[in-house]
Amino acid sequence: MKVKLIAAIDQELGLGVHGVMPWHAPKDLQYFKDTTMGHFVVVGSKTIDSLIAKKRPIPADQSFTPLDQPVLPGRVVIVLSRKDYVRDYLRLGCYVARSLEHALEMARTIQKEWHANASTSARESDIFIAGGGQVYREALEKNVVEEMHLTHIHNTYECDTYFPGWNTSEWDVTPHITGEDFNIDIMNRKVIT
Ligand SMILES: NC(=O)c1ccc[n+]([C@@H]2O[C@H](COP(=O)([O-])OP(=O)(O)OC[C@H]3O[C@@H](n4cnc5c(N)ncnc54)[C@H](OP(=O)(O)O)[C@@H]3O)[C@@H](O)[C@H]2O)c1
Repeated sequence: MKVKLIAAIDQELGLGVHGVMPWHAPKDLQYFKDTTMGHFVVVGSKTIDSLIAKKRPIPADQSFTPLDQPVLPGRVVIVLSRKDYVRDYLRLGCYVARSLEHALEMARTIQKEWHANASTSARESDIFIAGGGQVYREALEKNVVEEMHLTHIHNTYECDTYFPGWNTSEWDVTPHITGEDFNIDIMNRKVIT
């Protein structure tokens, strides 16, 4: 089970503005969907709040399980939050973790349970750190990320949230997709021997 990071950034490392993505890039959203499908996705509460804004208020009789959650269908969503009030996330079928380490441990435990449960079609899943800025920063500072999928948007936008810098000497870069408006690199952390 690998820990991966997936993000889209503009030419000045901009990520978001007023709680949302600054650009409309449907092909990149499709790449996010295809790449994370069937895997664990770890997100901060501000990112999930923007994804579920249209679903609020959630009717009292409505609740989902992690397998049928409507937030990012087909993925297991783990929300990072220290708040006491996390009922909306739980009712929408997300897991809630109180620290990054807790989130990674939770994903590994769930994966083990799938493998132990013969009735579940167990598959090998990865963990995608999917933002926003605070969560990317902590994951990179703590060196937990083994692989990054970075979309470089070929423009600069008004942003209030930024991707942290990374040490280029620590990553092997493989150009993955080249487009007119953006390109995607897959970066693997170099193995120090
Ligand atoms: N371009 C991209 O690829 C991309 C991807 C994702 C998001 N975004 C953008 O990024 C922006 C949001 O980023 P952000 O930095 O403001 O917020 P964020 O990282 O999404 O969420 C921050 C919140 O997550 C919780 N959190 C963070 N680290 C935690 C930890 N170690 N343990 C427990 N809880 C933790 C805290 O929630 P509580 O306050 O609930 O405790 C914190 O306030 C939005 O504009 C969004 O659209 C862009």
